[in-house]
Amino acid sequence: MKTYRIAVIPGDGTGPEVIREGLKVLDAAGQKYGFTTDKTFFDFGGARYLKTGKVLEDRDILAIQKFQAIYLGAIGHPDVSPGILETGILLKLRFALDQYINLRPVKLYSKDFCPLKGKTPADIDFVVVRENSEGLYKGMGEFRNKGAQDEVAIQISYNTRKGVERCVRYAFEYTRRRNKAKKLTLCGKTNVLTYAWDLWQRTFNEVAKEYPDVKTDYAHVDAAAMWFVKNPEWFDVIVTDNMFGDIITDLGAMVQGGMGIAAGGNINPRGVSMFEPIGGSAPKYTGKNVINPLAAICAASMMLENLGEAEAAQAIEDAVIKLVTTKVKSLAAGQMGYSTSEIGDMAAGAFR
Ligand code: IPM
Ligand code: MN
Repeated sequence: MKTYRIAVIPGDGTGPEVIREGLKVLDAAGQKYGFTTDKTFFDFGGARYLKTGKVLEDRDILAIQKFQAIYLGAIGHPDVSPGILETGILLKLRFALDQYINLRPVKLYSKDFCPLKGKTPADIDFVVVRENSEGLYKGMGEFRNKGAQDEVAIQISYNTRKGVERCVRYAFEYTRRRNKAKKLTLCGKTNVLTYAWDLWQRTFNEVAKEYPDVKTDYAHVDAAAMWFVKNPEWFDVIVTDNMFGDIITDLGAMVQGGMGIAAGGNINPRGVSMFEPIGGSAPKYTGKNVINPLAAICAASMMLENLGEAEAAQAIEDAVIKLVTTKVKSLAAGQMGYSTSEIGDMAAGAFR
């Protein structure tokens, strides 16, 4: 039997609760589809930081590099100042493992959970390919005259041809493989950010020539935000930079029904990828067994797809669709009509 070596980082807040349910479903799917997972747990997160002062060390990176995939709950702790855990753990993992793609499917599973009037699952089914290693997230910049009246803070968006090209190429390949509308939209800001988006646009146009079967389009990010709400059916695959991708995928999560269902993958196509529910640690719901584990379950499905277990991945997604269309009353924490563990039990039950 096939065994996948998985690193599990339950993390902070509700992370451990949702990861527990995700693993329940993963194990059940494995039993049916003939694979197992060999799981190693890592305690990276806010609690460990508060105890030891450690975020993520080089030896942690070396250890976690040996796995076939990483399954992450949430990083974020109310007692730790903003930025420390985000840059010290989450972004450090993304950068150190060169997970240069952040893949965020935006799919509405039930019209009942869509905040947009008149939109159905047929209208909302697209994927955002977010560049995940450069741009404003590079952390480049400086203060000048910090604290003074004439202070200047500079934050640089750093875009390399190689970095942009590998992302754009991934997006074209993905659009082709997805094989739906076969349309790739570049989402940028060519009218104002004339260095970065000139490079993106040129790279996009050049790579596009190699994919004559893929239709191309362009949208300014502000207009794209409007169309996510007005005409989400226009989109198939969107490729964008790190910062814009961060913002529009939260909007995407809302139009697909909320953080309770939104999952993402931090992908290194030739290395170790990491899958996570994108909702964060939700401290106020911690330990109450009320948080929605479906996003984590969807992240497990994405992980299986990435490991080559496409059939099992699809079956998990089908189980999620069945739950949200027949049982779950709301995707919001505490309003689902079921507890966290009951949702996990029902999703796992699809494999028995
Ligand atoms: C995300 C998150 C992270 C990001 C934060 C927690 C650093 O918002 O995964 O989208 O900005 O990338
Ligand atoms: Mn974000």
